[in-house]
Amino acid sequence: MSGELAGRRVVLTGATGGVGRAVASRLAESGAEILMIGRRKAPLVELAGALRAQAIAGDVTDSEFVANLPRHIEARWGTAPDILINNAGAFTLASFGETDSETFERLLAVNLRAPFELIRLWLPAMLARDSGHIVNIGSVAGRRAFPGNAAYCASKYGLRGLHEVLVEELRASGVRVTWIEPSAIDTPLWDEFDPDRRADVPSRGEMLEPGAVAEAVLFALVQPRGVSVEEVSLRANLVGRRS
Ligand SMILES: NC(=O)c1ccc[n+]([C@@H]2O[C@H](COP(=O)([O-])OP(=O)(O)OC[C@H]3O[C@@H](n4cnc5c(N)ncnc54)[C@H](OP(=O)(O)O)[C@@H]3O)[C@@H](O)[C@H]2O)c1
Repeated sequence: MSGELAGRRVVLTGATGGVGRAVASRLAESGAEILMIGRRKAPLVELAGALRAQAIAGDVTDSEFVANLPRHIEARWGTAPDILINNAGAFTLASFGETDSETFERLLAVNLRAPFELIRLWLPAMLARDSGHIVNIGSVAGRRAFPGNAAYCASKYGLRGLHEVLVEELRASGVRVTWIEPSAIDTPLWDEFDPDRRADVPSRGEMLEPGAVAEAVLFALVQPRGVSVEEVSLRANLVGRRS
């Protein structure tokens, strides 16, 4: 494979979603070898086939599934990944009073605990080789409060905290960590909320396109070894897609 990421091995969670597909396509075009993770096997395998990538179907909140990933991945690649992209995410719109404990725990499990566990799997190998890159897909809701985002904000603020600690701890190492912080993106995440019919969220035409996130991820990954892109804020400028 040729390209800026030729020979780089990437584990990407949430590969079947709107952002995941865009990131997988862009990184595959750049020559990366990608191992994609998601729960729904049929679309995952189809996408992996189209991109000549690999796929492992499973739930990142299932600790047994996560614990077995290194064995599966090392059987395929013979080594740990060079790049981990924590992109799988869950979202809901519900006020604090409407948020039950089960929903709160589910969002924390997908958006916060899973990245923690996945980073723990491969950070030691990255540190041992003094090279690696962890990309955390955050959100503007990890920095700003939005009504109706109690569980989501809690999970993304938590992920930003985890990310910032890693930045401090890893700054002197060859392992880089990047936080990508988009505003709303037009993806299937919004399907159940019908954003074009409500006033409390942006319409789809006012959202970022997933490709913008893919370009930001690539930008962070292709910097020279001495350059660490610690954060990328992406905001829709509200003129780009109105027509
Ligand atoms: N869309 C937005 O407005 C927006 C804005 C800022 C940040 N983000 C962040 O961007 C990331 C991607 O979101 P998206 O918009 O692309 O959402 P999406 O289209 O709904 O995709 C979510 C992805 O996560 C996977 N996933 C969810 N729960 C999982 C689990 N338990 N185990 C494994 N995979 C799981 C889904 O696959 P399966 O269903 O097959 O498991 C799917 O591939 C998320 O971290 C999200 O928080 C989104």
